[in-house]
Amino acid sequence: MSNFEVIIYEKQNDIGYVTLNRPEALNAYNLQMRDELYQVLGAIKDDPEVKVAIFRGAGERAFCAGADLSEFLTAPSPVIARQVRWERDVWGLFLSITKPLIAALHGYVLGSGIEIALCCDIRLASEDVQFGLPEVGLGIIPAAGGSQTLPRLIGGAQALEILLTGRWIKAEEAHRLKLVNQVVSRHELLPAAERLANKLKAYSPIALSYAKQAITRGLDLSLEQGLELEANLGDCLFNVNKEG
Ligand code: COA
Repeated sequence: MSNFEVIIYEKQNDIGYVTLNRPEALNAYNLQMRDELYQVLGAIKDDPEVKVAIFRGAGERAFCAGADLSEFLTAPSPVIARQVRWERDVWGLFLSITKPLIAALHGYVLGSGIEIALCCDIRLASEDVQFGLPEVGLGIIPAAGGSQTLPRLIGGAQALEILLTGRWIKAEEAHRLKLVNQVVSRHELLPAAERLANKLKAYSPIALSYAKQAITRGLDLSLEQGLELEANLGDCLFNVNKEG
């Protein structure tokens, strides 16, 4: 199932597969990909047949080598760029999805590539993975949430060092920093992601959704507010289960 040009979207056995598909350009994130990803994310969010989604990159060399440099800074003005962002808030949509999202990462994972991975819940990487945020070296800063999502995952000091220096991170260090949950061999990457997806899809979708929200929303709250959130979600879930 795919009518797209630069993304392949397939549904199989309750799993949504999203493949960034510009291997000739190392799956660089261009405007077409932004528009297609926006549609795909909407489908994942709203389609009850999709219980969990896996994000991956086509080809041997990259998950995504960041924003398409040939389109870089081509918006006619900051006002229009801002307007376009509000029309297509891909990152807000990504983070609003309460289903489990798995990133299967290989090769180059740069700029927007990391930012896509950071919008997912569980990151698996192959041994050849290389992460980097080259934005500052290009005279810009991340625009897809990376300056906020990365420190929430690995802590401020590590995120600052990676963003300010533009230093690249290989698999072993990524695992040590908790940027990825697990490192596997290249040929095991998709099978490992599918095993995980199959495990998750067997659980109650609403329990998964509430558990995800308890953690992702709770991260931005005080402990007291977080405990209240957990209690509220727990009550709602109890009522849903009682009625169901
Ligand atoms: N935007 C557009 N095209 C890109 C791209 C990007 N971000 N990254 C790679 N490509 C294209 C290259 O232009 C090249 O196309 P060509 O074969 O038509 O010349 C193709 O992908 C292969 O890349 P190439 O640079 O030849 O591979 P490499 O192995 O020598 O280098 C990288 C790989 C990732 C180190 C290098 O491509 C790179 O630095 N890319 C840009 C990363 C970046 O700064 N992204 C922006 C983040 S904000």
